[in-house]
Amino acid sequence: MTSRLLDLLEIDAPIIQAPMAGVSTPEMAAAASNAGALGSIGVGATDARGAQKMIAAFRARSRRSLNVNVFCHAPARADRAREGRWLERLRPEFERLGARPPAALHEIYRSFVEDDEMLAVLVAERPKVVSFHFGVPAPERVRALRDAGIVLLGAATSPVEARALAAADVDVVVAQGFEAGGHRGVFDPDAADDALSTFALTRRLARELDRPIVAAGGVMDGAGIAAALKAGASAAQLGTAFVPCDESAIDAGYRAALASDAAHHTVMTRAISGRPARCLANRFTALGADVSAREIPDYPIAYDAGKALHAAGKAAGDFGFGAQWAGEGAPRARRLPAGKLVALLRRELADAAR
Ligand SMILES: Cc1cc2nc3c(=O)[nH]c(=O)nc-3n(C[C@H](O)[C@H](O)[C@H](O)COP(=O)(O)O)c2cc1C
Repeated sequence: MTSRLLDLLEIDAPIIQAPMAGVSTPEMAAAASNAGALGSIGVGATDARGAQKMIAAFRARSRRSLNVNVFCHAPARADRAREGRWLERLRPEFERLGARPPAALHEIYRSFVEDDEMLAVLVAERPKVVSFHFGVPAPERVRALRDAGIVLLGAATSPVEARALAAADVDVVVAQGFEAGGHRGVFDPDAADDALSTFALTRRLARELDRPIVAAGGVMDGAGIAAALKAGASAAQLGTAFVPCDESAIDAGYRAALASDAAHHTVMTRAISGRPARCLANRFTALGADVSAREIPDYPIAYDAGKALHAAGKAAGDFGFGAQWAGEGAPRARRLPAGKLVALLRRELADAAR
């Protein structure tokens, strides 16, 4: 299956640099792709024009395969009363930072499931790969992408989600384990979650599905990629390993936290964005520890408050409210240019396979 996947994606090594909205950049993706991996950009938090610019920036640097990642969450339901209560809950934090909470919260970006402009841009630009996070779009959208010759990837955190992706004719399933950094790809954040590990999920999906599986979560080096392949994956998708790369868009506070003892503690929290995501333990995750999911506005309305609080913190020199997404492998992230990281991963993989 690994060579089938490499042929399908037109890449040299079974490595995907994870799409990371707000963190991965076209420069990072181009460096990863030029080194033989699949480079990815996350356009989930931008609009069609933003996506078009990012694709152009990639293409100015690489002629190789590109993965463009979109968010397929159920569109947010506004609830003014809940949003008001949430802002009141956060008010003391804003005030401690010498700021005031915003007057109201907004849905700061649209889901791909209802974004016709984004679909039109992807069909026109035809990146090699489009990947889905948080769900799967309607059949006619999937068909439009397929008819444009685009290979489709989708993230699953459970066998049920994986079966839904397969039924929608998504070519490759990304098995995202509970240890993974960033947003958990759960389709429904309110449903029961078995929190399957990367290993357990990859093994199950490799046995149950008739299509290539990509393991995501906790893979930090070539030995980890080799272990994922042994478990039945055809490739591994690495996010946290690429977060400190030179081409990353992270701020100084995020970079310092990742390089410090703070990297030893990660927490799954819903408080920052409205959906569960794994983050370095910080002041925001501590605040989230004693709020119930019902109190938090829908994703990404809650993220509007999260970003405002982070901005207020930064203005006061406090980076403790950042969305510092990272997986359980965080202490082992290495700071390198992305191309050098891919070359190192490939050497380590070859050594581990010997
Ligand atoms: C900073 C960060 C941002 C992420 N953003 C996205 C995203 O925009 N889209 C997506 O599909 N996955 C996103 N993810 C999840 C990754 O695709 C992948 O599942 C995860 O990074 C794998 O676990 P690891 O971080 O332990 O390597 C993000 C992960 C991180 C660390």
